[in-house]
Amino acid sequence: MSYSDIYAAWQADPEAFWMEQADLIDWDRRPSRAYFDQGPVGEWFADGLLNTCWNAVDRHVEAGRGDQIAIMHESPVTLSTKGITFRQLRDRVALLAGALRKQGIGKGDRVIIYMPMIPEALEAMLACARLGAVHSVVFGGFAAHELAVRIDDCQPKAIIAASCGIEPGRVVHYKPLLDAAIDQAAHKPEFCVIFQREEEVAGLVEGRDLSWHGFQYGVEPADCVPVEGNHPAYILYTSGTTGQPKGVIRHTAGHLVALHWSMNNIYNIHEGDRFWAASDVGWVVGHSYICYGPLLAGATTVVFEGKPVGTPHAGVFWRIIQNHRIKSFFTAPTALRAIRREDPDGEWIRRYKLHELQALFLAGERADPETVTWAQKHLGVPVVDHWWQTETGWAIAANPIGIEILPTKPGSPSVPMPGHDVQILDESGQPVPPGTLGAVAIKLPLPPGTLPTLWNAEDRFRKSYLDRFPGYYETGDAGYIDADGYLYIMARTDDVINVAGHRLSTGAMEEVLASHPDVAECAVIGVADNLKGQLPLGFLCLKSGSQTPHDQIVQEVITMVRDKIGPVAAFKTACVVDRLPKTRSGKILRATMAKIADGEEVKTPATIDDPAILDEIRSALNSVGYPAG
Ligand code: COA
Ligand code: AMP
Repeated sequence: MSYSDIYAAWQADPEAFWMEQADLIDWDRRPSRAYFDQGPVGEWFADGLLNTCWNAVDRHVEAGRGDQIAIMHESPVTLSTKGITFRQLRDRVALLAGALRKQGIGKGDRVIIYMPMIPEALEAMLACARLGAVHSVVFGGFAAHELAVRIDDCQPKAIIAASCGIEPGRVVHYKPLLDAAIDQAAHKPEFCVIFQREEEVAGLVEGRDLSWHGFQYGVEPADCVPVEGNHPAYILYTSGTTGQPKGVIRHTAGHLVALHWSMNNIYNIHEGDRFWAASDVGWVVGHSYICYGPLLAGATTVVFEGKPVGTPHAGVFWRIIQNHRIKSFFTAPTALRAIRREDPDGEWIRRYKLHELQALFLAGERADPETVTWAQKHLGVPVVDHWWQTETGWAIAANPIGIEILPTKPGSPSVPMPGHDVQILDESGQPVPPGTLGAVAIKLPLPPGTLPTLWNAEDRFRKSYLDRFPGYYETGDAGYIDADGYLYIMARTDDVINVAGHRLSTGAMEEVLASHPDVAECAVIGVADNLKGQLPLGFLCLKSGSQTPHDQIVQEVITMVRDKIGPVAAFKTACVVDRLPKTRSGKILRATMAKIADGEEVKTPATIDDPAILDEIRSALNSVGYPAG
């Protein structure tokens, strides 16, 4: 069947389509139907009973594939490589789950996981899934404050952490960050489990901290606990427009059915294949395509602890693809731009034999056509840009190479996947003709695997995604669809920026800048960057009478953002201005400032309060090197 046949089959009978996909995973009780009209946007397979860990791990052992490698850990930063078979993984996860159960963790309890790219991070996720506990993984590049915000929001009974992470050239001390976060949070976990790494043995807090190995000693392994189809599998926080992140919930059954479909049909990955997503378990790509997706499909997944360049060289991706005979590889365009900068002619690529690589997948940010063309030329395989979000959990639009390889168009993530009726809407919510730019929206209901609501924040869920275009899910992206039905994603419609494939909130950074004692008002915008796609840049208006030197204030706010949000924010530039450009109703013209910084032509907005301010902004930007080059 072709892509159009399959998309048409879904359109004709979504219920039958998804029930057929549901039969490809194991159930303790098969659901009576696919779609349930309940909750703010409906739920999937709600009355089924199943277990995620069973589907991702145990069933492959039962099917005789216990000796196949499930997880391959490649860590150039610790100079180690290690494989774990499905049988070993099952036994390790069952024991860890048994130890968690002995400490009182059960179905529905929240567990925060704060770990670097080590197999134990996946084992912790799977152990929670085995018990029906709800995990929330927090990315290691966030500061203690961000961890504290998440602790207060999801109120974990336990936190599982590693003693440290390794960034090139420095050890990231997780334990002091964890201790500071627990101090700052109003909610206190009952206990913490600390995985001690060789690179750093952390001190344990008496009566609260347990050692990963010690607390598993002599416990009974735990069996898989069947949970309802609409039981939350996890909560993953993502950036919104304010400093309070949004807790995206993923329901168990839809997650498994959708990921299984995507592994087979988008990535062309089946039992025994080898798949690698070079991301981090702290992001949605890590949840869907480092941990759950490949394991569900019975494939080997690679856990990579390193960077595309510098660990130790720009050929590390290709070495791993060669050595583990990777069939489908997934990374962010920014990683390829980093490699291309060091290896413009693809010399590192030619040193390795990449015979088994059939496609390269890109997501996380817009894939610029130059990078796509460079990769296609040097790798000689299709480069598939695909578009999705933390909220959706899997691709909204892609080139489904497991079905057929559609012609690619640089700059486009291709066509909508079954389950997604993607439409471009104008300000009034009316669909626009092909080629016209507008808000990208998905007609409800969303397919299985997407978010049913936000954790403890149904009102915010409605306001953020449903209220603006009744009957649709608002993606927050702007774009257009061409005459062939190919989608183009051009920009965000909100204050979210994308830095090195990491989604960040300018609103959160503004909250930090505004807390500086000399700052009266501020704005943060995203400016174009050749490597990271975008970088944040701050404008500061000082309180009258402030005597502090401007350079000092700039340095202080940079340090504050690093300390409060984390190094991942990459906030390194700010400038002091007298005033910010605003509309007559007082709205800051951030998009206009971003255009000036990017060297684009700017029409003075008709609603601007005082057009002269734009010249002041221009000279402030010039003083910090913008427009660049
Ligand atoms: N734990 C602690 N700190 C982390 C971290 C982690 N897991 N990940 C990143 N950081 C830190 C970095 O050390 C860096 O700190 P610094 O300011 O002291 O140098 C800062 O956060 C910014 O990191 P990053 O944006 O990754 O920049 P970089 O300069 O270290 O590397 C790239 C640049 C392009 C090589 C890198 O961003 C990259 O590999 N990007 C791919 C991103 C990706 O896969 N995203 C997932 C979406 S699919
Ligand atoms: P995240 O939730 O971190 O995955 O970020 C999702 C956002 O990243 C999307 O809403 C887009 O703005 C952007 N994004 C992700 N993938 C793509 C892509 N392939 N093309 C363009 N933008 C993308």
